Amino acid sequence: MTDTDPLRTQFRKPEGDDGRKVLESMNDHHVPLWTFCLDRLPKSIDGSILDVGCGGGGFLSRLAGRYPYAMLFGVDISEDALRMTMDVNAGTYESGGLELHLASVDELPFAEGSFDMVTAMETYFFWPDLRAGLEEVSRVLSPGGVLAIGSELRYGSGDDARVDEMCQTYGMRLVRDEGMLSLLDEVGIDAETIPGEHGVLYRGVRRF
Ligand SMILES: C[S@@+](CC[C@H](N)C(=O)[O-])C[C@H]1O[C@@H](n2cnc3c(N)ncnc32)[C@H](O)[C@@H]1O
Repeated sequence: MTDTDPLRTQFRKPEGDDGRKVLESMNDHHVPLWTFCLDRLPKSIDGSILDVGCGGGGFLSRLAGRYPYAMLFGVDISEDALRMTMDVNAGTYESGGLELHLASVDELPFAEGSFDMVTAMETYFFWPDLRAGLEEVSRVLSPGGVLAIGSELRYGSGDDARVDEMCQTYGMRLVRDEGMLSLLDEVGIDAETIPGEHGVLYRGVRRF
């Protein structure tokens, strides 16, 4: 993909035919990051899990496989993304195991302490205000609940110039590990950075 490719603008908010292509390709390309993150998350959860910026729904379908007794929720700012999430997770959706909402991370339509885990794959760098988004995520997490933020790109993983270039091309606002951990601490989440071959997982627990 080049700088001038119209698909590049679709990562922030996939829409229309081009958006669907991008969602389909993300459901393939993000599998190694998702697997890396899932391998480092609790073995079982039978409460409620929210996936923020659920995109094409591929990660939700993996969450459904991993946590068959959990109630799943997905939010995204793109109606087309939610439509594809519904298609990809038709069985879970139709059986009532998945609820989808058109919403932005900084205004989540859920009560305080609603979730045992909140996940956010390849999305935090598109949020309009990272601190406000994390604050909202912390509000809806139950005390002791787990937060998982995954990103393929990470400053400090070897080639910061390339990361800068990608951020510029795709309009991403990536933060360094220290910045992420300190924001998480400010919003009441104790977190650690877990770097890996396929990206980074910021894994945290909502303080009591
Ligand atoms: C690069 S895609 C990643 C999708 C999916 N999580 C994955 O791993 O394939 C980013 C997604 O975040 C969504 N998004 C962007 N800004 C958002 C916001 N403020 N609140 C919720 N979702 C947002 C976009 O619509 C898009 O579906």
